[in-house]
Amino acid sequence: MSLLREAEKCLANQKAYAGLNAFITPLQRSGSWLDRVRDADARRESRSSKSPLDGRLIAVKDNICTRTLPTTCASGVLDKFTSPFDATVVNALEDAGAVVAGKTNLDEFGMGSHSIHSRFGPVRNSRQDGDEAPLSAGGSSGGSAVAVATEQCYAALGTDTGGSVRLPAAYTGTVGFKPSYGLISRWGVVAYANSLDTVGILGRKTSVVRDVFNVLNHHDHRDPTNLSPSSRSRISSYLATPPLSDRLTSRPLRIGVPLEYNLSELTEPVRRAWLRSLAHLEKQGHTLHPISLPTTKLALSAYYVLAPAEASSNLAKYDGVRYGTRAEGPDSEEGPNGYLYAKTRGEGFGAEVKRRILLGSFSLSADAMDNYFIQAQRVRRLVQADFDAIFSTENPLRASAIERQETTVDVLIGPTAPSTPPRLSSLLDASNQSSPLNAYVTDVFTVPASLAGLPAISVPVSVSDSTSSSQHGSENESSDTDTVGIQVIGQYGDDELVLKVGEILEHATFVE
Ligand SMILES: *[C@@H]1O[C@H](CO)[C@@H](O)[C@H](O)[C@H]1NC(C)=O
Ligand SMILES: *[C@@H]1O[C@H](CO)[C@@H](O)[C@H](O)[C@H]1NC(C)=O
Repeated sequence: MSLLREAEKCLANQKAYAGLNAFITPLQRSGSWLDRVRDADARRESRSSKSPLDGRLIAVKDNICTRTLPTTCASGVLDKFTSPFDATVVNALEDAGAVVAGKTNLDEFGMGSHSIHSRFGPVRNSRQDGDEAPLSAGGSSGGSAVAVATEQCYAALGTDTGGSVRLPAAYTGTVGFKPSYGLISRWGVVAYANSLDTVGILGRKTSVVRDVFNVLNHHDHRDPTNLSPSSRSRISSYLATPPLSDRLTSRPLRIGVPLEYNLSELTEPVRRAWLRSLAHLEKQGHTLHPISLPTTKLALSAYYVLAPAEASSNLAKYDGVRYGTRAEGPDSEEGPNGYLYAKTRGEGFGAEVKRRILLGSFSLSADAMDNYFIQAQRVRRLVQADFDAIFSTENPLRASAIERQETTVDVLIGPTAPSTPPRLSSLLDASNQSSPLNAYVTDVFTVPASLAGLPAISVPVSVSDSTSSSQHGSENESSDTDTVGIQVIGQYGDDELVLKVGEILEHATFVE
């Protein structure tokens, strides 16, 4: 298919699936992008494509700055805001010939696990569980995931702070990759929690995700948290001995099965997909090793102290004076912290963002600091040490060697989320709104890799037998909720191996 026809199909799907609310700003039919796709077709004809992404439509989450389209972060404080510059990742995509396919819906400032906290309304999953009731698309990059799942674009960018790319991928049956922290530039990406934020990639296949990653994985001096060229070469020479191809062929992979991830709350399809993935890897000659990450139990609580603490200081700038939309009314009736600030922030931010700002401000306050923020930082270091103790490769960023467990592994395999997507109606129900803890627990398996900065991917793994669905002849039962997200986690910098193992699982067909 020509690139132009492919692009036209995406555009048609954006219209057809508008009800899913995946886009805040969709692509316009008019515009220079059509010419750019035609040019890419000509290049492809003459075998001079700029990259595998040349002429491809890539959707961008609406907390990543674009010069030509508004950037709203799904928030009332950024009403009609258009950035004066493009984020580094957007520039890199366009240099590779890709076209921005519009800006996708999200939880306000990336804060949420179901893409329901958006000023533009919730994102709806395209999948159904046999009933008509819409399901959660996961969050906060739910718009990007649904856009990919329904072929409204070729691939999409999201951001992942505690699981915001992996969870929507799991819920929509797509591939979602969070690279090692610091590999992809965050310049022009609106911050939620700086020490955790990572740009992530969503696609229908791991190979597409890898193509996008290769275009974005470069040093950027404008992002101070971006890995320096010298660290990059140190990591690649360190992990390249032996080279990845040899590591995969010379000996079987050692697959870690984290015992703490085997919660009694796992639903049946999740349990089944996990066991099938392990059996599949074992059948290919790889070996399974139960391992223990004892601090995992504390990771979620630590995350929900650290991320809001960073968010509360990041969002302090949206006061209607320096940044953000100013609320109508008299300027300052009660001094600099009075009327204008309170009104702007009170009207501009949604409930979930306010909740996290309050949580963060509290845990950073003098009385609470020692009990919450300092403890959470301690837990974060323990989570990192847990991972370093079980991976067979050393963490290239760790200064001193750490004592390893007897059993070490190359990658970990576990579920991405404890369950398949919940109904939107149950999440929007008032009684559940008052207990945000329900929503936070969804992140229990994604948060540990975020705290440790490790690469992790969620790939769709089939739970229905490839042979049985045709025999039973009941198409409506083998609906499209028949995959579960399985997560692969690797050592820092081992992104290529994580992608490779994701690919092995993604192609698996299970015949029992
Ligand atoms: C999880 O625990 C159950 C029993 O408690 C066991 O049957 C199952 O094999 C375990 N899953 C994994 C992946 O180890
Ligand atoms: C609250 O959420 C849980 C988990 O998603 C769900 O099982 C339950 O039915 C919801 N409660 C209501 C009243 O919708």
